[in-house]
Amino acid sequence: MENEIADKILKAQTVADVEQIRVDALGKKGFITEKLKALGKLSPEERKTEGQRLNVLKNQIEDAITKKKEELELQVINKRLKNEKIDITLPIRQKNVGRIHPVSQVTEEMVSILGSFGFNIAEGPDIEDDFHNFKALNIPDSHPARQMQATFFVDGEEGVILRTHTSPVQIRTMESRDLPIRIIAPGRVYRCDWDMTHTPLFHQVEGLVIDKKTNMGDLKGVLVEFVKKFFGMEHVPVRFRPSFFPFTEPSAEMDIGCSRAGGEFKIEEGKGWMEVLGCGMVNPNVLKNCGIDPNVYQGFAFGFGIDRFAMLKYGIPDLRDFFEGDIRWIKHYGFLPLDVPNVVTGLSMNGGVK
Ligand code: PHE
Repeated sequence: MENEIADKILKAQTVADVEQIRVDALGKKGFITEKLKALGKLSPEERKTEGQRLNVLKNQIEDAITKKKEELELQVINKRLKNEKIDITLPIRQKNVGRIHPVSQVTEEMVSILGSFGFNIAEGPDIEDDFHNFKALNIPDSHPARQMQATFFVDGEEGVILRTHTSPVQIRTMESRDLPIRIIAPGRVYRCDWDMTHTPLFHQVEGLVIDKKTNMGDLKGVLVEFVKKFFGMEHVPVRFRPSFFPFTEPSAEMDIGCSRAGGEFKIEEGKGWMEVLGCGMVNPNVLKNCGIDPNVYQGFAFGFGIDRFAMLKYGIPDLRDFFEGDIRWIKHYGFLPLDVPNVVTGLSMNGGVK
């Protein structure tokens, strides 16, 4: 009997097989159990020897079954481990997943840097009304700034336009959020323009801070710190030029030193300049238009040209190429989808796929 059971256990293929052997032998109606029950009918002498024999056998079977179960369970785990093994050293499949457009990449970079400075995201519609795009921004009907920004009008809709800048988001934010305000608003803007540095659709990031104490020094500090982080350079050649915007007073524009020598386009001191943003202290009339008391609150605002920052950072000489949809261009200047910029693991300056 001992050999027979030992043989069965040896041949068992699964944990369930072993369990069946246990039930057959040691279960409530198992044959060893039955034999143990029948001991009472034997004489005291026989009961002693037979009882001992059965108990030894019982223990042997139990041990053998436990061992076999452990062995089979280990086999199952090892088989799973082998089948589910992933070689994490294999490179990811990069083909046919497309590329991230430099404008998207740069927008993400800007948002992550400004986010780390404490700005929140705000949004507004691309199709705007005259009030938010112009009037509330202190640009009256007759103002030449309306011609200055060659506006696209929506056909047959009085006062409905494509926004010419992201500044209307300033108004929408002041109308709807509590003070103090620290927001950025990335998005598309539209103007009827077309040359190497102008396209009818382009991208801006608006910034707005409204608080009880803010000044031009804070504004410059934010912008200079931003360009250092954005370009990953300790010294970026910048200059602030006095300028005019109806919604800021005083106003300035920031230029970055660059060179186009030898067909290359790059950041360089002492050659030429490219305008990358407009900025200034929020005009008190704008605050009033949004129901904010200019005697208590001040603010500053800025509007980055995303596309121009992208041209400078990645050496892209002609803005119009951004919108041509040429597969060779995007393969050259685009980014891998997994190359997600953030201020912790770094921005994409090392990650451009060439
Ligand atoms: N809206 C301005 C433009 O598009 C830029 C700007 C934003 C200027 C905020 C000042 C303050 O030219």
